[in-house]
Amino acid sequence: MYQFGELSQETLEQLSGSGVFFTVNNGDKVNSMTIGWGSLSQYWGQEIFIAPIRFSRYTFEMLKNTDEFTISVPTNKQLDEALKICGTVSGRDGDKLKKANISTKDAKTMETPVIDGCDIYYECKILGYSDLKGEELDASVSERWYAGGDMHRLYFAKIVAAYRK
Ligand SMILES: Cc1cc2nc3c(=O)[nH]c(=O)nc-3n(C[C@H](O)[C@H](O)[C@H](O)COP(=O)(O)O)c2cc1C
Repeated sequence: MYQFGELSQETLEQLSGSGVFFTVNNGDKVNSMTIGWGSLSQYWGQEIFIAPIRFSRYTFEMLKNTDEFTISVPTNKQLDEALKICGTVSGRDGDKLKKANISTKDAKTMETPVIDGCDIYYECKILGYSDLKGEELDASVSERWYAGGDMHRLYFAKIVAAYRK
């Protein structure tokens, strides 16, 4: 039974549009960054969200202290300005949610909250990760996306819950 089947088209459209909120709670702090890449997929007989996070992100540091994240998808452009802020400002420099004028609400299954005012939510438990390596990528990809050496770590996470608001 695919939990995310019915939600996937809108989610993929939003990912390739202005992005979605990737939210982490490391116990001390909640932070959200915008992601524009990602996959809803099937691995290990489970429904898996794959999220690519560059090593330079504050989110990357926070993910060392948690094994969960949430994905919040606004489908009606209502949070485009907040997505822009969460996609350019770093949580290293203060409370980004406040700067973006967004608030959180409780998730259904985990400590990490979701972003209020979105339309679709995923609650994800990380099962593993894999780091991309420049030398293993086609030159057309490595030269365009990784010339500076700031690689992506791909987080594979079980979709524990997927629902509309
Ligand atoms: C539309 C959009 C999509 C983005 N997609 C990604 C992504 O998939 N992976 C990533 O590492 N950064 C992505 N970024 C950049 C991060 O959101 C940005 O660097 C952010 O400030 C990192 O926040 P942090 O330092 O608080 O973790 C994207 C930015 C925008 C505006």
